[in-house]
Amino acid sequence: MTVTLAQPPARSPAVATSEWGPEPMEKFVIEGGVPLSGTVVPAGNKNAALPLLAATLLTREPCVIHHVPDLSDIHYMLQILSHLGAQVERASGTVQIKAENIKTTAPYELVRKMRASVCILGPLLGREKEATVSLPGGCVIGDRPIDLHLRGFEALGAAVRIHAGDVKLFASRLVGNRVNLSGKFGSTVLGTDNVLMAAVLAEGTTVIDGAAEEPEVVDLANFLIKMGAKIEGAGTHRIVVEGVAELHGAEHSVIPDRIEAGTFLAAAALAGDDVQITRLDPSHLVAVTDALNSAGHHLEIGESSIRVKSNGAGRPIEIRTEPYPGFPTDMQAQMCALLATTDGLSTVTENVFPQRFMHISEMKRMGAQAHLEGATVIIRGVDQLSAAPVMASDLRASAALVLAGLLAEGVTEISRFYHIDRGYESIDDKLNNLGAQIERTKA
Ligand code: UD1
Repeated sequence: MTVTLAQPPARSPAVATSEWGPEPMEKFVIEGGVPLSGTVVPAGNKNAALPLLAATLLTREPCVIHHVPDLSDIHYMLQILSHLGAQVERASGTVQIKAENIKTTAPYELVRKMRASVCILGPLLGREKEATVSLPGGCVIGDRPIDLHLRGFEALGAAVRIHAGDVKLFASRLVGNRVNLSGKFGSTVLGTDNVLMAAVLAEGTTVIDGAAEEPEVVDLANFLIKMGAKIEGAGTHRIVVEGVAELHGAEHSVIPDRIEAGTFLAAAALAGDDVQITRLDPSHLVAVTDALNSAGHHLEIGESSIRVKSNGAGRPIEIRTEPYPGFPTDMQAQMCALLATTDGLSTVTENVFPQRFMHISEMKRMGAQAHLEGATVIIRGVDQLSAAPVMASDLRASAALVLAGLLAEGVTEISRFYHIDRGYESIDDKLNNLGAQIERTKA
């Protein structure tokens, strides 16, 4: 079956300005205290799928991407690709894209919905040597600059101009160069993706130092290699690209979503009886499983699965978020939910997005004892959280509130829930299959 892009995704975000017209806001109603057990399977990796879809702009030939999650962010990216002139067909988790003739301008109305749309800059510049894309603004997790992306494009020979809210890139030719993508908070994931996607069609050799080492970057590099790119070192902090004249179509399957899997691990640790997460890559989750082990949770780690069995109360821990392979910032909020009911004093320091603590004030409404000192939150575990109406502020904060609701006493209502549909495919259905009692209702 082919889904036309005129239709909203299965779980469309409840934004009044949506092009599908006003939609009712939804809320989640969670009855806490029900132990989880059973098996759950994470979807394809959102943060890998988004740049992979953008990379299809690099060729005129058709590309096929499997295991694409059904998320509103993915739908936005497909809309942007359609707007740029690509033919997009989606059938279940498989997306076929043919970007034979493309435009190079993406307007604010489309890109404002999702910050990650910035990753079309690299492929547009690589293929067409020009791009005009609306500049992403900040978001609740903090300032979201793209200076490192732009530094990389400039190093390849592009002129960069910011005008009327747009980033405009232009190059008569792109020439390989050395570029260092290390910033104040480490490397940049989408910045590495962007420079990589421009460099594959540049003349000569590009050396990206301070490259992000995330598995999502490796997945993108593997896809680009299938398309004919010459790339070495993906997954390390130095990536070397030998530019080629053109790329061809390719087929690829997106890696499993390590953050969704990690969220289920945290859910299992805090509310689980016996939960198995399958079809994941445990090597992508070492920092998370190490943290859970240190916190006293018993994990059975298989080749492509992890089982968490309840063994009573955990121990307090110290977590510091860092770029991969360090503890992921995208798991910080979920761990705060777990530590909120872990006896003793835990600390969580956010080194990637120092302001990313919107979930803390909402968790405090549920009885969590936590206070912020700069980019560190100090959490004293309580025996029990109590249900309260709370508000989701961003994707991972929403996930943390769901976890808190799973073990709170009473009925938790989470409003502004559309955030979670950006990054979790049917999280309510998946948790309900494990025994949770979550209802999605009109707010
Ligand atoms: C990606 C992920 C996001 C995750 C983040 C960090 C996607 C779609 N999103 O976002 O879920 O939380 O990695 O793992 O893949 N920075 C600069 N200048 C830049 C770019 C970034 O200073 O040009 C800073 C950021 O403000 C932040 C840090 O670098 O402090 C890391 O950001 P970055 O890795 O770029 O995040 P994203 O790639 O946008």
